[in-house]
Amino acid sequence: MDTKPQTSVLFVCLGNICRSPLAHGVLHQVVAETGLGHRIAVDSAGTGDWHAGNLPDPRSMEVAARHGVDLSRQRARMIRPDDYSRFDLIFGMVRSNVEYLARSAPAGSTGSVHLFLKYATGRDVDIPDPYYGGPGGFDAVYLTIREASEALAAKLM
Ligand code: 4NP
Repeated sequence: MDTKPQTSVLFVCLGNICRSPLAHGVLHQVVAETGLGHRIAVDSAGTGDWHAGNLPDPRSMEVAARHGVDLSRQRARMIRPDDYSRFDLIFGMVRSNVEYLARSAPAGSTGSVHLFLKYATGRDVDIPDPYYGGPGGFDAVYLTIREASEALAAKLM
């Protein structure tokens, strides 16, 4: 019998249309593959609200779909004050996200904020913004996120 409590994870980027929706979908897939799906809850949000209500960027949806991950039920939203305590682990994609999250967390928030790749893999590096680049950038982001999600799932087991 699995007695470990559920862990909740929130991925955060700038717009919540490129990187964090991809991380949300990929970690969801990885935990389903490893049989941890019932123990890990995943969501994503942005530090800005410019794209609120929108589908993920078509380039994120396309690279995800090619790897069997469906992002079509996701809609962009901005992070809310209660997210800082509703989620156990809050991951920024880049240092500036982590700085924003640390600055914006209401006093007494219980979620812990980390740079995603550093927490998952030990590599203290950002996941660069693919928004203004070509589709190749999204392939690179997918691979980085897939590898880090596998490492994170192993840590959470
Ligand atoms: P994301 O990418 O933060 O990975 O969702 C971006 C999306 C939109 C913009 C920048 C980055 N933007 O400037 O609108």
